[in-house]
Amino acid sequence: MADDKKIIFSGMQPSGLITLGNYLGALNNWTKLQDDYNCLYCIVDMHAITVRQDPAKLRKQSRDLLIQYIACGLDPEKNIIYYQSHVPQHAELGWILNCYTYMGELNRMTQFKEKSSKHADNINAGLFTYPTLMAADILLYQTDLVPVGEDQRQHLELTRDIAGRFNTIYGDTFKIPEGYIGKVGARIMALQEPTKKMSKSDENKNNTIALMDEPAVIMNKIKRAVTDSDNQVRFSEEKPGISNLLNIYCASTGYTLAEAEKEFENVGYGAFKTAVGEAVVANLEPVQAKVRELEKNKDYIDTIIKVNAEKAGRLADRTLRKVHKKIGFSARIK
Ligand code: TRP
Repeated sequence: MADDKKIIFSGMQPSGLITLGNYLGALNNWTKLQDDYNCLYCIVDMHAITVRQDPAKLRKQSRDLLIQYIACGLDPEKNIIYYQSHVPQHAELGWILNCYTYMGELNRMTQFKEKSSKHADNINAGLFTYPTLMAADILLYQTDLVPVGEDQRQHLELTRDIAGRFNTIYGDTFKIPEGYIGKVGARIMALQEPTKKMSKSDENKNNTIALMDEPAVIMNKIKRAVTDSDNQVRFSEEKPGISNLLNIYCASTGYTLAEAEKEFENVGYGAFKTAVGEAVVANLEPVQAKVRELEKNKDYIDTIIKVNAEKAGRLADRTLRKVHKKIGFSARIK
């Protein structure tokens, strides 16, 4: 990795696959990011097991996610895209950071509270210490910037606190990371509840369009999307459903809102929805083809998985060695 570029670290759960919202919202920025920053994209399978997973499904989803990210435009040679469990330094630093994190801090985490009420039969210690593992993910790479949504902000704050605490005790060891707010992409909302964001973990599948949804499924979901009754295709806060479809249309085609409104001026919702559906299908078609091509290329994907884990491991090792030395672990005998 070039030393003059800032480091961006991002972690994603392999518990859900990419949606149209992710694709239109975030992924468009990646081609730019990958030239300006050193980016690590970690598929956080170790975080995923804090709630019970089906093993075969976890394995498949991890691989699917990796393939989909590449198909969407993440260049696996410019970015380090890898599985968390393949780089044991995450677990090692995670343990160490547990010893520099207070129970009280972890107790305050709203995600822990939410997840433990949702999974009341499995409030395991991993769920509790989830944020220290996340801190390790970030701090291992001397990360400058972390793109996080609102729901992860508190974890990033804690990461900064832990890093600062460690640095105060032992001297400069970790870079203190900042949140990264990139160019805002399109904000795509749930199709059935257009006032909330489209989310890959949504249980109502009619709310989301998955990257790999078949054309007929896409057309159908858009046809069933919630609208309103005034039958005018116009962007307005009072018309969240139609506004969302307009956003989807514009992000998929490159038209501006004004152009789209003009195009559909005297058109009913039915025909409008057909046009939106067709635009989405056409936009996703090449990505879906790329996914299918990558899926056939097992050796290529395996090589990426291996090489990128090695790259990440080498970087992580630098930090971990420094940490070991600072806290008084004995050097390994060579
Ligand atoms: N906790 C994040 C989420 O659920 C995923 C994650 C794990 C992460 N480690 C990270 C995100 C490090 C950013 C940086 O979305």
